[in-house]
Amino acid sequence: MDRLLVGGGRRLQGAVRIMGAKNSALKLMAASLLAEGRTEIENVPRIVDCFTMAEVLQHLGAEVAWDDSTLTIDTAGARGIETPYELVRKMRASIVVLGPLLARFGRAKVAMPGGCNIGSRKIDLHLKGFERMGVRFSYEHGYLEGVAPNLHGAFVSLDFPSVGATENVLMAAVGASGTTVIENAAREPEIQDLAQMLVEMGAKIEGAGTTSIEIEGTSSFQAVCHRVVPDRIEAGTFAIAACITGGELFLEDARADHLDLVLDKLGEAGAVIRVEERGLSVAMAERPLSVDLVTLPYPGFPTDLQPQMMALMAIARGTSIITENVFESRFMFVDELNRMGADIRTEGHHAVIRGVDQLSAAPVRALDIRAGAAMVIAGLAADGVTEISNIYHVDRGYEGFDGRLAALGADIRREPSLWPALA
Ligand code: EPZ
Repeated sequence: MDRLLVGGGRRLQGAVRIMGAKNSALKLMAASLLAEGRTEIENVPRIVDCFTMAEVLQHLGAEVAWDDSTLTIDTAGARGIETPYELVRKMRASIVVLGPLLARFGRAKVAMPGGCNIGSRKIDLHLKGFERMGVRFSYEHGYLEGVAPNLHGAFVSLDFPSVGATENVLMAAVGASGTTVIENAAREPEIQDLAQMLVEMGAKIEGAGTTSIEIEGTSSFQAVCHRVVPDRIEAGTFAIAACITGGELFLEDARADHLDLVLDKLGEAGAVIRVEERGLSVAMAERPLSVDLVTLPYPGFPTDLQPQMMALMAIARGTSIITENVFESRFMFVDELNRMGADIRTEGHHAVIRGVDQLSAAPVRALDIRAGAAMVIAGLAADGVTEISNIYHVDRGYEGFDGRLAALGADIRREPSLWPALA
């Protein structure tokens, strides 16, 4: 179990290539189960979560091969329908194999995902959608089994524009008989990327990226080659790291059109942003200004950049309020930031951040992927060397994060942890 040692006070400078999006790649990998054959997915980040999804596919009988950031998935031998607890507990997103398995085999069995640090993470909307399509579920020994003797199209209106529920129902609907409409659908760019690959495979989909998606079911899918969309959350993370160090970074391949509100908020905080042909550059010369924000489903401010933005606001000039509307307990990391001398109070889903002149280094824990990235970002601006433990969380979502930051001038190194991992 490694830890990161981050020395503060160095400006980040230079260019970094933004990798493929974790939250798209995982779903594209699951979608490969719909076709019998060799799917090639390019620009897949070499991160722990993608390795875990590869294990899920292998457990279902597929052959998976990595060639640098290109994945080849051969599903000809995939006959399995069960996803074991050992894999689901490592990564909740394993639940998205439900849709493609129901579409291809008419049945699927997955371990119910357990608790999570950022919220209850229910799957009731997934199940409600599937039940409207004729799936019958049974639940035993921690496993959920779905059977769909006749998977058919349906009108599915989501109570909340859940990313996972939209993707899971979409991947079932493309293989169902008849028409499905998903109303109040999630609109994230990762969903548009998934829909694009499904259409390349032969699916009939209208309206991906809007609140209403219409799918005409079909029975045969071809294996294709698809390139993963750049990771807007990774791009936002590096942009905030540039700002907190008073640095300047060029984010190669970053899509400004996927980051509208994020770039607006960084602009309000004093960042200078230039959108260029092959990416965007972000610079901040002065101390950031305080800005208020609320997290919302896309195109709102992404909840996955909330902790990183709070680290920036911790040293801002003035007081800011951050409101978390997507997950009910995504402020657990605040105590870790306050250990570094931040002045943050939370009340329900509001956090009040009084900017301090400087953070001071302290031993802290990474509590999840994004909270871990926020600790690294805070460490880059703190006085002294911050020790961050549980960094396997960071490795789940960022490929070679510390190495890439070091290449941009950060004082950061990875060392074996002195203590056993804490939960
Ligand atoms: C995806 O999670 C992402 N994960 C999350 O990123 C991201 O934070 C989230 O979308 C929101 O943008 C992946 O794509 C692998 P949701 P997901 O279903 O699909 C409630 C990261 O750091 N809800 O949109 O699980 C739920 O409890 C991760 O990369 C129900 O109540 O998110 C939550 O409060 C963290 N019932 C809200 O909706 C349901 O059936 C949003 O969840 C489904 C969701």
